[in-house]
Amino acid sequence: MTKTRVLTGITTTGTPHLGNYVGAIRPAIEASRDPQVQSYYFLADFHALIKCHEPQRVAESRREIAATWLALGLDTNNAVFYRQSDIPEIPELTWLLTCVAAKGLMNRAHAYKAATQENLDANEDIDAGINMGLYSYPILMAADILMFNAKKVPVGRDQTQHIEMARDIGQRFNHIFGEEFFVMPEAVVDERVSVLAGLDGRKMSKSYNNTIPLFEPEKKFKKLINKIKTNSLEPGEPKETEGCTLFQIYSAFADDSDIATMRERYAAGIGWGEMKGELFERLNEQLKQPREEYQRLLADPAYVEGVLQKGAEKARAIATPTLERLKAAVGLGRFI
Ligand code: TRP
Repeated sequence: MTKTRVLTGITTTGTPHLGNYVGAIRPAIEASRDPQVQSYYFLADFHALIKCHEPQRVAESRREIAATWLALGLDTNNAVFYRQSDIPEIPELTWLLTCVAAKGLMNRAHAYKAATQENLDANEDIDAGINMGLYSYPILMAADILMFNAKKVPVGRDQTQHIEMARDIGQRFNHIFGEEFFVMPEAVVDERVSVLAGLDGRKMSKSYNNTIPLFEPEKKFKKLINKIKTNSLEPGEPKETEGCTLFQIYSAFADDSDIATMRERYAAGIGWGEMKGELFERLNEQLKQPREEYQRLLADPAYVEGVLQKGAEKARAIATPTLERLKAAVGLGRFI
């Protein structure tokens, strides 16, 4: 049986929050348990450098993200779990792809276009503050994907253009060098996974500063839940579940029957204080144990380092011969 290769990267610039967990980490860990799937999950730490020049933050985020995935039960015997920067073949492939990628294609990348538009709106030079990393970001991402011939790439909606670009670049390489070196990856955007709302009711996102960190210590975690915005209805007054952040987060951690019961309690006028208590209990029940494991892992960097080194070894067992073949194809093989 040939397994479907599923690959995704996590940019290491922040601390994982509830929205990351529900939208990306939980489904990825579940998918990795499917015996028909071979998953590749990696810390996109080269990508982090594009937008973050604070070494402490990048370093801390890598440790936190690695510990998070392991604490939540990612089975690294099954999934290949590694740091992008441990695979030197990735930047090498990036260069081979850079030399076939159309500049015009990069000009059309949403992230770059948004940055140039912001400059124009502010009457600045069109490229002010934009580094080449941001500009070539989609090529590095194409190398991540094409290196392992990943078929499925689970990503958020904002990333689908990058997968199309990876296809475009891969196709062009295949065409120029006359062989099917790369299979064409597909973006998988799961419409069912909810985009979680944050403290202020907008999408939970680092850029809105409204996140609830996944493994915040219990007391702080409770405080944050109490800060989630509600309307001013009194206990006893019937409440809408639609558009209610508390209900939405609750639903992401409950089964259908518990959700139905909660819906009835809303209709019967559950008070916001009581609901916040319920939400805290529900989340804490599921996060308490992984939170402890997370703390244990953060305190044992040697162990996590070992896990990632093993992951890198597995990834390079594929990347090294693949790159060798690609180099030969472009004329950079050995003399004999
Ligand atoms: N750019 C992705 C993001 O910000 C992270 C990423 C890097 C990635 N390389 C990848 C995702 C390869 C999927 C496949 O979310």
